[in-house]
Amino acid sequence: MCGIVGYIGTDLAFPFVLKGLKRLEYRGYDSSGMAFLNKNQIDITKSVGKISQLEDLMLSKTHTSKIGIGHTRWATHGEPSDRNAHPFYSNSKKLAIIHNGIIENYAIIKKELQNKGFQFESDTDTEVLINFIENIQQENQVSLEKSLRIALQKIRGAYCILIISVDHPDTIFAARKGSPLVIGIGNNTHYIASDASPIVEFTKEVIYVNDYQIAIIKSDELILKNLGNETITPQITKLDLEITSIDKGIYDDFMLKEIEEQPFTVFDCLRGRLDFKNCNIKLSGVEEFEQQFKQTQKITIIACGTSWHAGIYGKYIIETFCRIPVEVDYASEYRYRNPIIKKGDILIPISQSGETADTLTAIEAAKKDGALIFGIINVAGSSIARICHAGIYTHSGVEIGVASTKAYTGQLTALVLFTLKLALIKESISKQQILEVIDHLQILPTQIQKIIDQKDQLKSMAEKIYAAPNMLYLGRGFNFPTALEGALKMKEVTYIHAEGYPAAEMKHGPIALVNENLPVVFIAPKDNYLEKLYSNIQEINARKGKIIIIANEQDTNALQYTNEVFYIPNSHEILNPILSIIPLQLLSYFVGKLKHLDVDKPRNLAKSVTVE
Ligand code: F6R
Repeated sequence: MCGIVGYIGTDLAFPFVLKGLKRLEYRGYDSSGMAFLNKNQIDITKSVGKISQLEDLMLSKTHTSKIGIGHTRWATHGEPSDRNAHPFYSNSKKLAIIHNGIIENYAIIKKELQNKGFQFESDTDTEVLINFIENIQQENQVSLEKSLRIALQKIRGAYCILIISVDHPDTIFAARKGSPLVIGIGNNTHYIASDASPIVEFTKEVIYVNDYQIAIIKSDELILKNLGNETITPQITKLDLEITSIDKGIYDDFMLKEIEEQPFTVFDCLRGRLDFKNCNIKLSGVEEFEQQFKQTQKITIIACGTSWHAGIYGKYIIETFCRIPVEVDYASEYRYRNPIIKKGDILIPISQSGETADTLTAIEAAKKDGALIFGIINVAGSSIARICHAGIYTHSGVEIGVASTKAYTGQLTALVLFTLKLALIKESISKQQILEVIDHLQILPTQIQKIIDQKDQLKSMAEKIYAAPNMLYLGRGFNFPTALEGALKMKEVTYIHAEGYPAAEMKHGPIALVNENLPVVFIAPKDNYLEKLYSNIQEINARKGKIIIIANEQDTNALQYTNEVFYIPNSHEILNPILSIIPLQLLSYFVGKLKHLDVDKPRNLAKSVTVE
């Protein structure tokens, strides 16, 4: 959600800023802009639309500056337009700013500044912030650094900002609260970005800036301070990221690349964690807090979007295997609804990016109340990963397609490992039952590959449904979250209005939608619900819905109702959802392609939702 980049060093700034914005485009793509310091002035160029439009404008210019900043926007305040695109000048044009986040009290500050004669060209909170800083500097006759500190103490909300100044031609000022900021250390050069993807090509040594810190960045010096003006020693981290993982390679789209990576990403999540011989699951994060896990009476899972669907799956399997009550909450609801949390309770945040603002804030509240925070996170070193007491990394690799695919199967796999470990600690099921799941887990990557190898069948299915305005996804039990996630993927990538429902619940409303034009996808692998689910299939069949069934191999029953059956390999019933979501991801992908849509960057969406 909004991407920021900055460069200060020995080379020209433009190539890094442009490339960096392209790498971060998944974070926001309604407009973009850049600012460079050139001989006593700041030159800003911005454009509505994709980065390629900004690139066209920039390529006709001469570039000499070695200090620059760039921004790709996901609109919060003000419609997407050239006027509202970042960067923004201050009124004197001596300062320029880019910002990821939201300044909540901007309206009142704006009014005060307008009364003092400040003019605004945009509707944004960001333009207010840079003028607020300038005003403090002018009125108090203080340095830019001090006025920045004063301003940051007075604003409410979230921010990651970069500022350049005509009076400081050798410095980029940066600050963060709630929105991510990474600084790469090069040779007399610093690379700045919202995440490590623009940086990894140039250096593997980075510093993750923490909340309430200001960075004063020169080409050969980096000073970190807190808002109280105390200097902080920067902690250098080595990036565990390869450039190949953030390139499309042979693929046209990240979405297909990431779907097809799933045999490997699920394998990476399992790697070194299964011990069939000793019937054990190796998860050091759980082992460290074993007593607390043994005694806990309640688990709460919080997450947003796709990760929330993984949370529902987590509830089903943890309650089945470990016999502990599990609540699943949207992080955005949890943080405001005054939930009951007691010392010793366990809170499991699930997040791909590790930066989702609602999840982050909800964790902070639960942590204060004494909960143990056990994260299921993909991005190592992310803000959420850093505030958890312990957790499991899903090891899904960088996910760039805005619609989450491989991160979801990583989350489900991590939840299975967690559940088995907890069941072992609680002795809630027999070792034999655990070994059965481990046995099936070991062949899961090969089974996922088998599904991907049959993707042409899903392409043909897509051709039959892509013109539909609505769709329904129905599943029961462990595959109820698959129905939710399948529908979300279709909605996001194709703009078809799709609803996911527990199959039996469909009779209480959605059945009114059913007619011969409505594609209805049933997720129907062999499990305890299958017989009941077939009654629901008959109900839709009687109303002439266009039935698609995801069934297990050898389930010939499905063919009685439709020719549109996609077979997935047989597995343990709790693992079926890791297989059954793959054809649904592919179906959405192919429908999106048939509709000539940008499947990697669906309209209005952003990858990492760092505003509430
Ligand atoms: C959907 C999708 C979103 C995210 C949600 C949470 O395809 O990607 O719904 O799942 O924004 O993001 P994370 O998992 O990064 O906290």
